[in-house]
Amino acid sequence: MAEYILVAVAWPYANSEIHVGNLTGSYLPADIFTRYHRLKGNQVIMVSGSDSHGTPVTVRADAEGTTPYAVYQKYHHSFIELFQKAGLAYDLFTSTHTDNHFRVSQAIFLALQKNGYLYTQKEKQWFSKSQNRFLPDRYVEGTCYICGYENARGDQCDGCGNLLDATQLINPRSKIDGSVPELKETEHFYLDLGKLQPQIVAFLEARQSYWRPNVLRQSLGQIQAEKLHGRPITRDLDWGIPVPIEGWEGKCLYVWFEAVIGYLSAAIEWSQLNGDPDAWQMWWFNPNAKGYYFIGKDNIPFHAVIWPGQLIGAGEWFGKLFAGIDNKLLTLPYDVPANEFMNLEGKKISGSRNWAVWGHDFLSRYDPDPLRYYLTANMPENRDSDWDWQDFLQRNNNELVATWGNLANRVLSFAFRNWAGRVPQPNELRPLDHQILAKVEDGFRSVGENIEAVHLRTALQEGMALASEVNRYLDETAPWFEIKKDKEAAATSIYTALRAIDSIKTLLAPFLPFSAETLHKYLGYNNPLFGEQTTQAVADRLGEHRVLRYDSHSASGKWSPSRLMPGQLLKEPAPLFRKLDEKIVEEERSRLGG
Ligand code: MF3
Ligand code: ZN
Repeated sequence: MAEYILVAVAWPYANSEIHVGNLTGSYLPADIFTRYHRLKGNQVIMVSGSDSHGTPVTVRADAEGTTPYAVYQKYHHSFIELFQKAGLAYDLFTSTHTDNHFRVSQAIFLALQKNGYLYTQKEKQWFSKSQNRFLPDRYVEGTCYICGYENARGDQCDGCGNLLDATQLINPRSKIDGSVPELKETEHFYLDLGKLQPQIVAFLEARQSYWRPNVLRQSLGQIQAEKLHGRPITRDLDWGIPVPIEGWEGKCLYVWFEAVIGYLSAAIEWSQLNGDPDAWQMWWFNPNAKGYYFIGKDNIPFHAVIWPGQLIGAGEWFGKLFAGIDNKLLTLPYDVPANEFMNLEGKKISGSRNWAVWGHDFLSRYDPDPLRYYLTANMPENRDSDWDWQDFLQRNNNELVATWGNLANRVLSFAFRNWAGRVPQPNELRPLDHQILAKVEDGFRSVGENIEAVHLRTALQEGMALASEVNRYLDETAPWFEIKKDKEAAATSIYTALRAIDSIKTLLAPFLPFSAETLHKYLGYNNPLFGEQTTQAVADRLGEHRVLRYDSHSASGKWSPSRLMPGQLLKEPAPLFRKLDEKIVEEERSRLGG
């Protein structure tokens, strides 16, 4: 039976370009996972968008002397272009600056209020005299009161990863002009996490057996060490979603409070764009639907603790307020497979110091599948990993090109030349032919199980190991010599190898969708494996926003062993991957930090 699976992908802040660390941290694993489930025939939707509000964007606008709206638009469009080039096939990539997202976020806020999980509190907050305004968390930096790191942001410390109370920062300074701010009273809404704690703990305990250890440590472990307390969810800021309460004009919902709601609002927008406006309920009002949240480790507390708290706290009131539906609870996350970080040549990636490999820049010189291959092989699933240009070169040349690309190319070319461009008719298969086909067939179980458990590195390794097996099979059968003595025996070997390659193509398709599609064509199939990505401009009350969509072409049922028919017409093949020259290593290294 088809499962309902929501793939919820971290929303990039629309204030800077995307680098390889971001890609391998959340966007790429989400895409691999989604493509697999599409092939498998599950009801999967992958949604995300640009995180367009809050101080990350206003700080950048101030620095560039432009508006937050312009900053958001610029990066949003850049993300959409990058995701298309990299084959990140979001069912919907939208933004938080949409009328729909405003309404959904305000409904969650009001539902929390109805259920008694919000309270207001007057509080002292950093105020800049020179600017005559309150300074939201991100505008204040100082020394972390937990670990002593000197450049902690008001909202979170990059030294120890803890979420901070900005007012407790030591030696605070304004990010705008460096001046020392003072504490002044203001009023805000708080999410009562203390009251929600028992339900959040029960939610976490129910998932304890299969969550990644680092995610549990930063959620359940953290709560056991220190009780949850209320967190302010409004800000003195005008770029964002207005607090839907009279008398609160001029204040906005905190960006972290509303951005996570995007997982819900994007599913709703996706349904509307498909002309099936209630479809989202199969993911969001369905206790059997599974939500997988693909994020980086810095986002763990927001997704594993606070977002579940928001969903639990909104309860049945969300359905009532937003859609007039009774007795429906929102689906809680099933898994939060957060990744660690990827470093670059042994050092932490830093956009501002240009110590980064940027997505657009990389793809201006290389193809997307080598990027996806290297990022998966090095994915920081359990510990931090490292992008190393020498390692990239070697993996591209020795693995992608030598093990897989050459295998596909030499078998296809040989078949194309010697059997008039058709899949050869085999004799009855021999034991070693059956053996290799059985091994490859088992890949549909083992690779599939690993992808379902979000062990993507292992899944890729298993797929590649099967390619090596087929290389060994060809060393043994040696059809290139066989053909001189016994063309029928050679036909049997080549038929078997083509079928194995056809299967491995499918096993690798979630990881390497571009070359899989090309190979699929060479093998003589007329319909593509996957659907297309398109962009569209959507107009609403707030103006226009561009979205990226995956067309609903069904890859369904294709996660199964090859049934390649003898006689099928092939297309003339060309190499799937390019061998790279040793000199790129030094060239690329010299670009860094420039
Ligand atoms: N914009 C945040 C970041 O880049 C991630 C937000 S995920 C969301 O760290 F769901 F909250 F949007
Ligand atoms: Zn710290």
